Amino acid sequence: MKLVFLGPPGAGKGTQAEKVCERYRIPHISTGDILRHEMKISSELGVEAKGYIDKGLLVPDDLIIEMTKKRIAQEDCAAGYLLDGFPRTVSQAEALEAVSPTDYAINIDVPTSKIIKRICGRRVCKACGAVYHISSYTADTCEKCGGELYLRDDDKPETVETRLKVYEEQTKPLLGYYDKADCLYTIDSDRPVEEVFQSICTLLDGKTE
Ligand code: AP5
Repeated sequence: MKLVFLGPPGAGKGTQAEKVCERYRIPHISTGDILRHEMKISSELGVEAKGYIDKGLLVPDDLIIEMTKKRIAQEDCAAGYLLDGFPRTVSQAEALEAVSPTDYAINIDVPTSKIIKRICGRRVCKACGAVYHISSYTADTCEKCGGELYLRDDDKPETVETRLKVYEEQTKPLLGYYDKADCLYTIDSDRPVEEVFQSICTLLDGKTE
């Protein structure tokens, strides 16, 4: 099962990816999480990526494609994986499809009017990366590991605006790309997390039974 999650920033890709990967026992590969880890350890890639991420821009294709190809070549991806945040440009999609064709490209869809509220209220655990929203979780520490919660640097309103523009211009065309490849499925994410999850499971169970 090779899955790709598409959708605008803050649509709920990471939230759903965690649940889907637990249920179907496939690795969750979030290019955003990998880049944030590289930034935290100040690797060469992390330092270079920070310049783009902090401005809300995409990291150059060549860096991301190489990084992702290496990751999906690892043994734990042999039976499938979920890519969250990759591909984000048509060049990335072409590079992926050339080495590992996608079974389901799932578009996690939410109206733009809801996105700012979701992103600006998001809090992430510094230690384990767990994601919360201030509307449903008010503690300062992570309930899973006790780590400190923080607002991502790229979640400030002015950066979010750039990210949305970048999504419209560079990533949204992928919907047409995967539609043509006949593997695009759109899931309405403007519903409670559990309902969205059930819709994804219904889609995947229907296809795997
Ligand atoms: P990345 O980390 O991938 O960010 P993103 O795609 O902008 O997505 P987000 O993580 O912001 O949102 P999400 O959809 O996962 O939502 P979440 O589940 O957290 O990328 C960051 C940056 O890295 C990019 O800008 C770029 O610079 C770089 N990068 C990464 N990949 C790249 C690539 N392939 N190429 C080039 N550059 C790349 O949910 C959001 C909030 O909403 C949370 O608080 C959550 O609790 C809440 N929520 C979730 N679902 C619901 C629901 N159903 N109802 C109510 N609230 C909900």
